[in-house]
Amino acid sequence: MELQLNQQTVALSTEQHSHPLLWWLREERGLTGTRFGCGQGVCGACTVHLDDQAVRACITPCNAAAGHRVTTIEGLAPSAEALHPVQQAWLELAVAQCGYCQSGQIMGAAALLARHPQPSDAQIDEVMAGHLCRCGSYERIRAAIHRAAQIEAGSAR
Ligand code: FES
Ligand code: FES
Repeated sequence: MELQLNQQTVALSTEQHSHPLLWWLREERGLTGTRFGCGQGVCGACTVHLDDQAVRACITPCNAAAGHRVTTIEGLAPSAEALHPVQQAWLELAVAQCGYCQSGQIMGAAALLARHPQPSDAQIDEVMAGHLCRCGSYERIRAAIHRAAQIEAGSAR
């Protein structure tokens, strides 16, 4: 079984099929930007993209990713020289506090913008309510998502 992990083809061994994707990413692939929070699909810290959908890697078995594209925070930027608009906005607005939840927040926001390029506050709140931040960075997250939408639309400056 194979999958595309951050634009690279990777094989999964038979014993890895039933392992949680989060465990495989962190322990087998060394992609520790994807965080372990609750382990129960509740907090959003482990959010990655499966094809273009945001999924919770802690409750997604590896075999669900077979034949699909998996993107983690390490593979979100379009190149080594450029940031994803969400990453750019996050830096501009200094969203992160302790940072623990932030890779999941960014992956959730990027998936939201892919579906809704100009999201309303209500659309942002609906999606991002599933991403917990113990530091309470929610206001900056909402502002940064609007800023990322601007950047993506080419009206950045
Ligand atoms: S660690 Fe996966 S949702 Fe919390
Ligand atoms: S920035 Fe600390 S938990 Fe979100």
